[in-house]
Amino acid sequence: MFYSPTLLVLFGLINDFVTCAEWGYSSPYGPSNWTTLHGNEACGRRAQSPIDIPDAMNAQYDEGLVPFTVMGFEKKTNQLKLINNGHTAQLNILGDLTVSGGGLSGTFKTAQLHFHWGSSSIKGSEHLRNTKAFPLEMHIVNFNGKYDNLAAAADKPDGLAVLGFWFKVVAEDNEMFARLVSNLTSIQNADAEVAVTDVLVSDLIIPKLDKYYRYKGSLTTPPCFESVTWTMFEETIPISESQLRQFRNLKEKKPSHEIVNNFRPVQMLNGRRVSRSFKLETDGASTICSSSIVTVLLVYLLHLL
Ligand SMILES: *[C@@H]1O[C@H](CO)[C@@H](O)[C@H](O)[C@H]1NC(C)=O
Ligand SMILES: *[C@@H]1O[C@H](CO)[C@@H](O)[C@H](O)[C@H]1NC(C)=O
Ligand SMILES: [Zn+2]
Repeated sequence: MFYSPTLLVLFGLINDFVTCAEWGYSSPYGPSNWTTLHGNEACGRRAQSPIDIPDAMNAQYDEGLVPFTVMGFEKKTNQLKLINNGHTAQLNILGDLTVSGGGLSGTFKTAQLHFHWGSSSIKGSEHLRNTKAFPLEMHIVNFNGKYDNLAAAADKPDGLAVLGFWFKVVAEDNEMFARLVSNLTSIQNADAEVAVTDVLVSDLIIPKLDKYYRYKGSLTTPPCFESVTWTMFEETIPISESQLRQFRNLKEKKPSHEIVNNFRPVQMLNGRRVSRSFKLETDGASTICSSSIVTVLLVYLLHLL
């Protein structure tokens, strides 16, 4: 087949146009311009993610937020595929992994997990913790079992439950992440994918899924559907600088651009409530306090008599 030079230039232009229209984290289609891209109107709504998760003291204790139960996370499966989609490193999960409890209604099926990170360790997480950023954040994306698949659930108010984990830098490599991180070298370029074996999803999380924050929000990437019940766990996962470097080496679709700072800035709460699953010493203090006021008042009144 022979293409005339004009046709080739035309192809080039169309290709450039398509590439330019793709959302990203920097200009011209960075987060503040996502709403201008077709189909992403939801990015401008009022219950968006991520947010700044307040200190435990400023989140509300909710006794309905029981521990999570995960199934199949510890099973060896050959149904894990690691991909570089140009925005993140994503582990697609096809096996029978499920998440329930955690104050969710029903059982959710695990579809994928992926990461957000910074160009240096002073930033990278999407959710902040009392205005503080973490170097890496992992999202395990689960869809409500009452829907057929992730796509069908993605725009439903009760469609998704995302489990979020913050990471903190430590001196030693996290051995639990060694295999996944070493496999990142096989997906350096955008659209690369590789089947991974010997990675257990249970190795990538914390053992006790009981202390967490909860709020209702959205996908943190276009189309920003407000369909996510968010969970951010209190306990951080350790990771070393050299392991973080493997994430920072991944390439965008734009040749020779590294994927870094692939996090959306925090969004306004707009009156939403952030609750927590665990009690603090000070919880219940208000009732003690008010009852002691009543006592003082009674004593005072009795003295008047
Ligand atoms: C948003 O679009 C304007 C106008 O095209 C551009 O100047 C600006 O850099 C863009 N901002 C981001 C974060 O993409
Ligand atoms: C993934 O990493 C493990 C451990 O380093 C290695 O044995 C395996 O070959 C890697 N697989 C791929 C596809 O890179
Ligand atoms: Zn994410």
